[in-house]
Amino acid sequence: MGCFLASLFFACNSEEAQVEESCEVETVVNPNGDSELALLMRQMYLDADSIKQLIVSNEGTISDEFITELQRVHAAIPTDSTVKTPEFKAFNDLLINQAKALQENTKDRVEGFNQLVARCIDCHQSFCPGPIKRIKKLIIIPI
Ligand code: HEC
Repeated sequence: MGCFLASLFFACNSEEAQVEESCEVETVVNPNGDSELALLMRQMYLDADSIKQLIVSNEGTISDEFITELQRVHAAIPTDSTVKTPEFKAFNDLLINQAKALQENTKDRVEGFNQLVARCIDCHQSFCPGPIKRIKKLIIIPI
């Protein structure tokens, strides 16, 4: 799946492996420092984790600030400029739509939040598989 989407824009084997490498979070050694997008993503992870706690404890939900943060992904400069394809934009729009749906959803926030995390993973499968294991930890396991 990831290969299929990626192959629309660049050869699957060699270059996708490169993207994957630059996305290995745990071992990342970037001589130019972390990209604007990487720093933004790190903050998104922390904020998503806080929203998760709010939903689990039934004390709140997603905020306007979080949605604004997601909108900043469109313009943020990545480590690897080849990720900025129409697919990347489409994946991010799907994530933003899900975030807005979650904000309006008062009934099933757990399901809505897990859908949001699924949208993070969709993009990562195509552009940056490294952090997927970590992102999966955001999923709320229903009791
Ligand atoms: C539109 C595609 C896309 C979406 C949607 C997306 N990501 Fe990312 N993510 C990336 C890319 C590309 C990188 C690599 C950034 C770089 O190195 O410049 C990244 C990097 C990361 C990283 C590693 C940052 C680091 O420390 O270097 C984490 C963690 C992360 N994303 C979490 C998330 C979470 C949580 C969500 C959902 C709320 C999400 N991502 C949604 C594309 C996406």
